Amino acid sequence: MSDVLCMYYSRTGKTREAAKEIAAALGAEAVEITDGVDYGGAGGFLRAGRSAMARTTAPLAPYQTQRPLHEYRLVILATPVWAGRCASPIRGLLKRRGLEMERVAYVLTRASGKHYEEVYEQMDLYTAAPHVLAVSLRPGDTGYAFWRDGFVQDVKRYLEK
Ligand SMILES: Cc1cc2nc3c(=O)[nH]c(=O)nc-3n(C[C@H](O)[C@H](O)[C@H](O)COP(=O)(O)O)c2cc1C
Repeated sequence: MSDVLCMYYSRTGKTREAAKEIAAALGAEAVEITDGVDYGGAGGFLRAGRSAMARTTAPLAPYQTQRPLHEYRLVILATPVWAGRCASPIRGLLKRRGLEMERVAYVLTRASGKHYEEVYEQMDLYTAAPHVLAVSLRPGDTGYAFWRDGFVQDVKRYLEK
């Protein structure tokens, strides 16, 4: 049973890939979440953007973790950036379960060169304590592996403390 849980949402696979790479490097449990809303295609893109901006969320589809969330030494939440915010399914998870998360780290994936570090503070509004680590990744960018691997090393150092 792992001490680290990596929960992620991914609309087009980029966050899934990043989360799985990070979870594999850490030997972490990886759990994908979704809220069952159809975010596919152009209509789905608009739904995604609108819900992110309005901060509305839908109930999550059932998912399972091996332990209660507060028992993990670290819960890593991985989300694409949607309209400068976290993706709606991750906000839905935070709204419903955030107070059970006492030690969290964030992984953002994004398309642009902006880092969106303000999203970390937005996500902290829902958690029992502010994040201990975070990274903002741009899939396909030359710096992607550097920042991903740096984050993995930071998590390992954090867990050694
Ligand atoms: C509705 C919507 C809004 C987005 N807004 C932003 C944004 O504000 N800034 C940005 O850099 N990327 C934005 N993106 C791009 C995604 O964050 C980026 O492509 C991400 O890596 C996709 O992850 P995924 O494949 O796991 O869904 C947006 C994507 C969607 C669907």
